[in-house]
Amino acid sequence: MTKIIALAGSLKNQSVNKRLVLIAAKAAEQAGVEVQYLDLADFNIPLFSEDLEAEGTPANVNDLKALFAGSQGILLATPEYNGSISGVLKNAIDWLSRPSNTSSDIGSAFHGKVVGLMAASPGGLGGIRGLSHTRDILFNLGAIISPGQLALPSAYAAFDEQGQLVDSTMAERVQQLAQEVSRLATAINAT
Ligand SMILES: Cc1cc2nc3c(=O)[nH]c(=O)nc-3n(C[C@H](O)[C@H](O)[C@H](O)COP(=O)(O)O)c2cc1C
Repeated sequence: MTKIIALAGSLKNQSVNKRLVLIAAKAAEQAGVEVQYLDLADFNIPLFSEDLEAEGTPANVNDLKALFAGSQGILLATPEYNGSISGVLKNAIDWLSRPSNTSSDIGSAFHGKVVGLMAASPGGLGGIRGLSHTRDILFNLGAIISPGQLALPSAYAAFDEQGQLVDSTMAERVQQLAQEVSRLATAINAT
């Protein structure tokens, strides 16, 4: 079965990006793929250092990489920090881009994976500037970026008490993105 990872580039409990990606994850499940939601806060990833790496990649990082490597698609919602990608997400990507101690599995996390990009921000642009940087990074790692990215503005007022999007047009766009990623990931899984 086609597998998709869903995660947000935020450690915050009440992260709006976590809320957004959870909606996309549900839509992808409804589209018929297996979705595993990951909270980066559960992985306790240290700041990347080549000295630390030389001592041995942390087991949690290897576990995370194995989950990515076993998937065909990634749904990713990232906060925009200072017009760019969040440090938390960039740090995770840097670790995931490295080979494991025991094998030359460099590239296994992102190469050839379909990525659906989203951002949520309390601001008016919805984090779209950070998305273009995230897109560049993942493209460099060989990911196939789905064309239908979306940025959710005014995100602190965008969800109802059930965690659903208030705006039906935005809800439809999230669903379309999740369906697109599911369809492309399924096609890759079949090859
Ligand atoms: C260091 C820092 C920088 C930020 N820079 C931006 C920014 O450039 N653009 C923006 O729209 N929001 C910015 N914000 C606000 C975030 O969008 C907001 O904190 C958001 O809730 C983060 O997403 P999360 O709730 O998923 O963690 C920044 C927040 C922090 C802490």
